[in-house]
Amino acid sequence: MSELKQILTDSLGRKHSYLRISLTEKCNLRCTYCMPAEGVSLSPRSDIMNTDEIYEIAKVFVKHGVDKIRLTGGEPLIRKDFEEVIKQLSRLNVKLSITTNAILVDRYIEVFKKYGLNDINVSLDTLKEDKFKFITRRDQFKKAFENILLLIDEGFNVKVNIVLIKGFNDDEIKDFIELTKNLSVSIRFIEFMPFDGNAWDKEKLVTQNEILSQVKDIFGNSSIIKLENESNFIARRFKIKNYKGEFGIISTVSNPFCDSCNRIRLTANGKIKNCLFSSKEMNLLKLLRNGESLEDSILIAMHKKKAIRAGMSSFEKFSNPKKHSKNRSMITIGG
Ligand code: 5AD
Ligand code: SF4
Repeated sequence: MSELKQILTDSLGRKHSYLRISLTEKCNLRCTYCMPAEGVSLSPRSDIMNTDEIYEIAKVFVKHGVDKIRLTGGEPLIRKDFEEVIKQLSRLNVKLSITTNAILVDRYIEVFKKYGLNDINVSLDTLKEDKFKFITRRDQFKKAFENILLLIDEGFNVKVNIVLIKGFNDDEIKDFIELTKNLSVSIRFIEFMPFDGNAWDKEKLVTQNEILSQVKDIFGNSSIIKLENESNFIARRFKIKNYKGEFGIISTVSNPFCDSCNRIRLTANGKIKNCLFSSKEMNLLKLLRNGESLEDSILIAMHKKKAIRAGMSSFEKFSNPKKHSKNRSMITIGG
């Protein structure tokens, strides 16, 4: 058998085995840190991958070593053909997972189970109804929270993502960690990252060090247990002694984990992104529709991948909003 070209290995030797596919640019919430108030201009419908195209592009990645696929958005569950998408992808030999805002998950419990989707990441930035309405611009806290409890109850592996924003929710770190006392859930505090139009400001950043020092003050140093990092880890993991769940910190801003990066992204309009922060994309969907091979373009995209955050290695560069103006808003990248 002829050997496959290592098209998913970049020039630094990082092997990319984790593909994140955005299923839609739309969302049923309007989180301020993810999209600008005026909304984003959406791709024409005909430019969005259909079910078969998602499968065909994913198949190429799987052939070259991808063994984990996460479905993201916008909000992946608002896609009418979600069940068909997951049904097709479940034919590939990969671990499937999803990132959702949980608003619609109660309708999909059986679908998740049927197709073996067990890892579910949920975004929830506050435990207070009025703050939820403020940050998401929608009054849906109860639905989101009830559905998170439902997922945990149904035995899914649930991670709750909280984007920390100074003066908004950094006073809720304790309440979120207290959720892990009796619930088998993993809470992950994410440093607020700059994207086009999301009003990022370094003054709003709550860093890993600040989070940890707050946690030490609240729970006491001796109650905090450091857990092993997973391979290709992004979250530094901890738990409070005798608590059922755990918590982690994702510090893309103050402490990037790019040297172990194994992620590639496919946008809803079929473009490969070699890094969350890269504005250079290659249109795989167009190639597929023209009946051309995707492999050469994937190889080029991987070889262009920079060591750290699309070349913004220093905090100074990364915190300059101009550097992000060519990139997409998070809503059209997909976590
Ligand atoms: N900074 C950090 N995390 C973000 N997310 C979206 N926008 C940002 C941002 N500006 C996270 C959300 C969600 C995931 C898809 O991406 O928490 O869980
Ligand atoms: Fe990977 Fe880019 Fe994220 Fe670094 S910033 S971990 S290179 S996706």
